[in-house]
Amino acid sequence: MLNVDELAELVRTRRTIRGYDNDRDVPEECIQKILDIARLAPSGGNGQPWEFIVIRDPEMRQRIVDFYQKQTEDKLEMERAIRGKASIGGAGFRNAPVFILVVGDPRVNQCYPIRTNLEKGNQHFISGLASATLLIHLAATTLGLGSQWVSDANSPYMGTMLKAWLGIPEELRIYELIPIGYPTRRPPAPPRRSLEEIVHRERYEPAKRRTDEDMQKFIQTMTRAGNYGRSKSTGENASPGSSDQ
Ligand SMILES: Cc1cc2nc3c(=O)[nH]c(=O)nc-3n(C[C@H](O)[C@H](O)[C@H](O)COP(=O)(O)O)c2cc1C
Repeated sequence: MLNVDELAELVRTRRTIRGYDNDRDVPEECIQKILDIARLAPSGGNGQPWEFIVIRDPEMRQRIVDFYQKQTEDKLEMERAIRGKASIGGAGFRNAPVFILVVGDPRVNQCYPIRTNLEKGNQHFISGLASATLLIHLAATTLGLGSQWVSDANSPYMGTMLKAWLGIPEELRIYELIPIGYPTRRPPAPPRRSLEEIVHRERYEPAKRRTDEDMQKFIQTMTRAGNYGRSKSTGENASPGSSDQ
């Protein structure tokens, strides 16, 4: 079994990849292995809400990239209207040879007790899909592959178009699009909050409570919205002032 240091190395090695080698295909065997791991993810009540749509056809992928780019327009417009400026990462994933669309069936929520379904059915549903998605990213990393979350896949326009165009039944919900391929470069690790800052012993430690000012500083220095505090563009992964996720 994997020991804790190997697990830590895997988790540290995984990066969100936003640029892919156009000339290097991903063997089907890799995709099979990745999805065979994803299906073992934990889920509320073992409801296993996930299904995966694997898209390899170049024309189909291009169409998806087109949907993505089109939905970016109103996202940018909304950012400009409210924040006065906007920068959203482009479709750096366009060259990934495989797209996996993670979809979920909320009818599995019926497997929960009535109260659980009423109070947190949706939360459990999303958590299950997130668990499977994380396993896809980790499994891809072990195979030397890069992967990315493309959350806008379920934005109103893109989600609707994907559903219509890929023939996804009405009752299913789109969760994430995951491009997979060989990375053109390995970006540096974005900063993470220290253990000291996030762990509270015995009870919540008031000294660690963040003020609104602390939070603004954090957003500007550690998150993608603040380009992880980096001053200059560092390629595909950089997104200064990004409104991206
Ligand atoms: C729920 C969720 C949504 C995300 N959505 C996007 C996205 O739409 N586009 C993108 O490029 N990255 C997306 N990311 C990736 C994050 O930006 C990334 O995980 C974070 O910046 C840390 O970088 P790392 O994954 O390389 O450690 C998302 C990640 C999560 C967990």
